[in-house]
Amino acid sequence: MKKVKILTEPNPILRKKAKKIEKIDPKVKTIIDKMVTVLDSNEWSLGLAAPQIGESLRIIAIMARETRNKEGKLIHKAIPLSIFINPEIIKFSKNKIVDDEGCFSYPGYFGPVERPSKIRFVALTPENKQVKINASGLLARIVQHEIDHLNGILFIDRIEDKNKLKKLNIE
Ligand code: CO
Repeated sequence: MKKVKILTEPNPILRKKAKKIEKIDPKVKTIIDKMVTVLDSNEWSLGLAAPQIGESLRIIAIMARETRNKEGKLIHKAIPLSIFINPEIIKFSKNKIVDDEGCFSYPGYFGPVERPSKIRFVALTPENKQVKINASGLLARIVQHEIDHLNGILFIDRIEDKNKLKKLNIE
């Protein structure tokens, strides 16, 4: 499959509210395949939302490789590939935590975002099964970040003090 183009700020598609999927048809499956290609081809990927590849539809894909720092200390565990269609958060914890986030659509930067530490969400799988998932830790953060994309929100919108945005020094 050829390289999938990722939209970056200020592309207006990133700012639109994405449409609900009514039917998981072959077109939806093709979009999912493209999203998986992006996650597969980027070592640092954690998740992707369909609007980031130009499809204003409510689909998110999550996958993380185990990541360790230079000293070999575990930063986060691997998360197997998961696709969620029409995801909706139905419960947020009162407890919030701050952690750094970055995004393919705002490349080269990362910064601290405060989010509820635990969530419960519902979604459909590509097999059209309804799932209800309790998420905490990295998964909870990624799901919230990706659902934000479906609502036209980027992580930078959640960082009030833009001086806290830091430049990535890789690449
Ligand atoms: Co993002």
